[in-house]
Amino acid sequence: MTVVRSIIRGVGAHLPKRIVTNDELAKTLDTSDAWIQERSGIRQRHIADDSELTSVLGAAAAKQALIRAGIDPVEIDLVICATATPDRTFPATAVRIQNMLGVTKGAAFDVQAVCSGFVYAMTIADNFIKVYQFKRALVIGAETFSRILDWEDRSTCVLFGDGAGAVVLEAHHQKGTREDRGILATRIRSDGRYEDLLYVDGGPGSTKTTGLLRMNGREVFRHAVQKISGVIEETLVETGYSADEIDLFIPHQANKRILDGIAKKLNVAPEKIVMTLDKHGNTSAASIPLALNQAFEDHRIKDGSLILMEAMGGGFTWGAVLARW
Ligand code: UT7
Repeated sequence: MTVVRSIIRGVGAHLPKRIVTNDELAKTLDTSDAWIQERSGIRQRHIADDSELTSVLGAAAAKQALIRAGIDPVEIDLVICATATPDRTFPATAVRIQNMLGVTKGAAFDVQAVCSGFVYAMTIADNFIKVYQFKRALVIGAETFSRILDWEDRSTCVLFGDGAGAVVLEAHHQKGTREDRGILATRIRSDGRYEDLLYVDGGPGSTKTTGLLRMNGREVFRHAVQKISGVIEETLVETGYSADEIDLFIPHQANKRILDGIAKKLNVAPEKIVMTLDKHGNTSAASIPLALNQAFEDHRIKDGSLILMEAMGGGFTWGAVLARW
């Protein structure tokens, strides 16, 4: 008997043109390149200009993923955009991207799970594909976090950046074993008790403004390693793999010290970790597909590579996806 799996057919990414280094931030903020690098691992980030909307970045990333997959936009029947920085409160940024790409069938909607958005969106798309509701999905993570940063708050504004990444998923019949290609296991979690540790202090339904990001970094950090390790272990138990069988670890890029902590706890060799936060900062829902794209362009992903993606963000939300390329 065969099962339907979501195969990753293509990956793409797009970054705003402007690069802002730590030294540039230190000109107007009481901070330094040394502090930012030592505490987070970040060296620079891309910042969008007024014309580089979340939809524009997302559509460019999706276009590249479609070209690499050799799939025409008219064959896509599901577009999910993970974002916490939509162009407009509504309609969904995914609908705008659908229109920009010329996708005319199926459904398009946004997913709001902040930094875990891409893991949530992959999980949702995978479940739709597995029940035969859609055949080819574009899963996009796109953010313009620079628009919701308090540029006078050095404890947050130095950490984030803008960008987008995307993958094309396609339904394929597989044997139903752990050696299959495609998404093998997913886990998503949330716990609203932690809402006030990472949030935006505004919204259309409360202040009628967009609001700015607020974070208790130390507390978020304290929860991150334990929560992320938990969902990773669950995907490994479900598939019967051990952490040392993972070929590539593609984590959400929030802090190098968090990534090192998870790798140590799970015994993942440092050379298997894809690290892009030095160049991009924390791009929220875009960070995993941006890192996946970087690994693809660096020829680190081979046919059959076992890839683990994980994230944690505001809510708290967290989750993991285990997939074979
Ligand atoms: O993607 C969503 C999930 N988010 C995360 O995973 C973020 C998790 N948290 C973190 O990555 C870290 O907590 C931070 C990088 C945000 C901060 O690192 P930390 O080691 O936890 O530093 P801290 O907040 O404990 O601050 C240490 C000191 C403080 O000074 P005092 O109180 O010790 O005198 C801060 O005021 O560093 C100071 N500080 C800075 N100094 C220079 C905070 N921000 C800066 C800055 N430049 N930009």
